[in-house]
Amino acid sequence: MKDNDTTARDQWSGRIGFILAAAGSAIGLGNIWGFPYKTGVNGGGLFVLIYLFCILFIGLPVVIAEIMIGRNTQKSPIAAFAQYSSKRSPWCLVGVLGVVCSVVIMSYYSMIAGWTLNYCFKSLFRCFDGKNFQEVTQLFKNLQGTTWEQLIWHIVFMGMTVGILYGGIKNGIEKWSKILMPILFLLMIGLVLYSFIFLFQGTVQSLRFTFLPKGPLKPEAIFKAVGQAFFTLSLGMGTMLTYGSYLDKKSDIPKASVWICGLDTFIALIACVVVFPIIFQNNAEPTGGPGLVFESLPVLFNTIPGGMFFGAAFFLLLVFAALTSAISITEVSIAFVIDHFHFSRKKMSIIIGILVCLAGFPCIHQTYFGWMEYLTDLALPLGGIFISLFVGWKMPKKVTFEEFTIGNNLAKMYPVWLFLVRVFIPIILTIFMLNMFNIIPTESINAFFGFGN
Ligand code: TRP
Repeated sequence: MKDNDTTARDQWSGRIGFILAAAGSAIGLGNIWGFPYKTGVNGGGLFVLIYLFCILFIGLPVVIAEIMIGRNTQKSPIAAFAQYSSKRSPWCLVGVLGVVCSVVIMSYYSMIAGWTLNYCFKSLFRCFDGKNFQEVTQLFKNLQGTTWEQLIWHIVFMGMTVGILYGGIKNGIEKWSKILMPILFLLMIGLVLYSFIFLFQGTVQSLRFTFLPKGPLKPEAIFKAVGQAFFTLSLGMGTMLTYGSYLDKKSDIPKASVWICGLDTFIALIACVVVFPIIFQNNAEPTGGPGLVFESLPVLFNTIPGGMFFGAAFFLLLVFAALTSAISITEVSIAFVIDHFHFSRKKMSIIIGILVCLAGFPCIHQTYFGWMEYLTDLALPLGGIFISLFVGWKMPKKVTFEEFTIGNNLAKMYPVWLFLVRVFIPIILTIFMLNMFNIIPTESINAFFGFGN
């Protein structure tokens, strides 16, 4: 690869900067919007248990793997895979899959982020004041039925994303993450405390629903849990790889990865305790799907004195959380075009931004939106299989061992990690894929684990 791939490479200011930026990428709509609704739809505790298993034994090792490839090669995904194979090698297709995913995911991610922007303004202009649960639900349905309203906010959000990418992202991402992430944490914790005090019964029910595993397993739940683990950790399409390529040679990758996964999981679980109480308190079912956050939180904020500001602030933070993720998704495409066609970053930010924006237009239709989500759930674990095989079998053991142990004394954990990426993860992800295509039906998995009633 040419030198200009590496010479212009920015670096994070250090380990903390990297962790916060990577956590900024990981923590986004997937945690606060996606996780609670998927937990609701897929039956609660048992789904959460499978999800936690996926984070620990699949997500964490793959986070380490992606960052490792990035830091070692200091290149964007396709070039990184080429470094340990060849320019025309099929391994490079993993990078290509990542670029395609980046456009597909951004197209609908930006649409949802647009809803949060819209809700930010609606809260500020008191559109939810005095409205009960049913009325707020109706408002959300109205938004989904209004083409222009959705499109405008989608375009505004894409504009914000491009704006940051245009101005150069490294300083921007890191700086923004350092300010916004702690505020997001505090706000979430504040909301949990609020739920405990004022919605005690609902909160207890939420904790039960979220943390008590109960069978039988819903069809698709395993598949959804794997997909969600990949989505929430920004895995399978080279985002963490790209971020890793800006990491210095001294930082401890496993420890940073534990922090990223820990913070991400913490926020996802907390989001359930924030979103569900109001649902249970209203005797509603938490199975509402993608609208859950948009239907329950405005009602929650209505019950708080000064709630409209709180609501606006919350949705604004959601916008920022989405923004730090959106940048990381789009960056994969941009880095690819810059590396391969040598266009300027500024020009490419705008062109890719417009393309992604147009690709998002059909997502106003629920069916199309559903397909895109389905594709994501399929593509990310597929990318995960190949990334694991790549670090496990293609990269020299000497290199991965060195990358794994820089800055720590975790040499003893290396064989465990190596086993996971070489054997366990590829096999288990393949089984999940087969489950998805119903070649291995969920009933057999239920029977195998004893997840029956
Ligand atoms: N992880 C982010 C979230 O939870 C979304 C995201 C950012 C993402 N980068 C990604 C998802 C790469 C898949 C792949 O909202």
